Amino acid sequence: MFGNKTAVATLIACAVAATASLPTYAATTFKLSHNQDRTHPVHKSMQFMADEVKKLTDGEVKIRIYPNGQLGTQRESMELMQNGALDMVKSNASEMESFEPAYGAFNIPYIFRDRDHYYRAMEGEVGQKILSTSYDKGFIGLTYYDGGSRSFYANKEINSPADLAGLKIRVQPSPTAVNMIKLMGGSPTPLAYGELYTALQQGVVDGAENNPTALTNSRHGEVAKVYSLDEHTMIPDVLLISSKAWDKLTKEEQEAVKKAADDSMAYHKVLWKEMTDAAVEKAKESMNVKVVQVEKQPFIDAVKPMHDEALKNPAIAEYVKGIDALAK
Ligand code: GCU
Repeated sequence: MFGNKTAVATLIACAVAATASLPTYAATTFKLSHNQDRTHPVHKSMQFMADEVKKLTDGEVKIRIYPNGQLGTQRESMELMQNGALDMVKSNASEMESFEPAYGAFNIPYIFRDRDHYYRAMEGEVGQKILSTSYDKGFIGLTYYDGGSRSFYANKEINSPADLAGLKIRVQPSPTAVNMIKLMGGSPTPLAYGELYTALQQGVVDGAENNPTALTNSRHGEVAKVYSLDEHTMIPDVLLISSKAWDKLTKEEQEAVKKAADDSMAYHKVLWKEMTDAAVEKAKESMNVKVVQVEKQPFIDAVKPMHDEALKNPAIAEYVKGIDALAK
């Protein structure tokens, strides 16, 4: 991970130089940064998207993917994109709240009844409006990638909000996530994802919350041995492109990029289910993580005020109402 912007700029310059010297030179090559490893379903789905972009544009548009946070954390990557040093970023709707408040609608705990409701919101008018709303801020969203449900992991069972008392719980850098943990009675600690393994290992935090791939792909199951399935949020990852990069494309190329992004979301839907089921098995069988079913109602009750407040917050009320209307 590079905290140092000069180092990142140098790395990007080298990457550009390396790309330019390749014999198969594409008219446009976009750099895409993200923070997962190459075996993660989101990486695979973005690779699918990049392959399709290349095919649909006859090689005129190429996307080079830089995984593992090698070009910076999600926040740093967003800043680089806003400054014009990066073209595309994969972030998470939780963290995106600080760049475009509309994404905050996805962060309300228990806003989705189930996976179908979540997909209706992402694919429907509400989700698509959130993606397009940030053009003047220097970027737009292209598609969402299912991030499953997020639950707590620590070295003890978290069967009710009372079990969070006195625990420092790492959250994504998002005001809504901070508020959620406070209402449940824990102490929220916002940290970048790449810092979390060490923070858990060294006891800087007592626990965290995420989908099962965090236990396996990011190996958090080595240092946190109990996964308590309260499933408080369903927060998608988001694929973003800078407004500048978007405007460089012809209308046909824009359509190709959007189609490839939508198709990769559909591809991801199937892959996600398979890979997260396998991740839960791996966590249990090979990493010795105990997976606990919990009674969700006390968690739901603890965070109920968040939904009520969101309906009164002019920045997101419209989107929250839109999501609620899709519940059935
Ligand atoms: C998920 C998501 C990442 C995010 C991470 C986090 O794993 O895919 O984009 O960074 O959660 O909790 O920070």
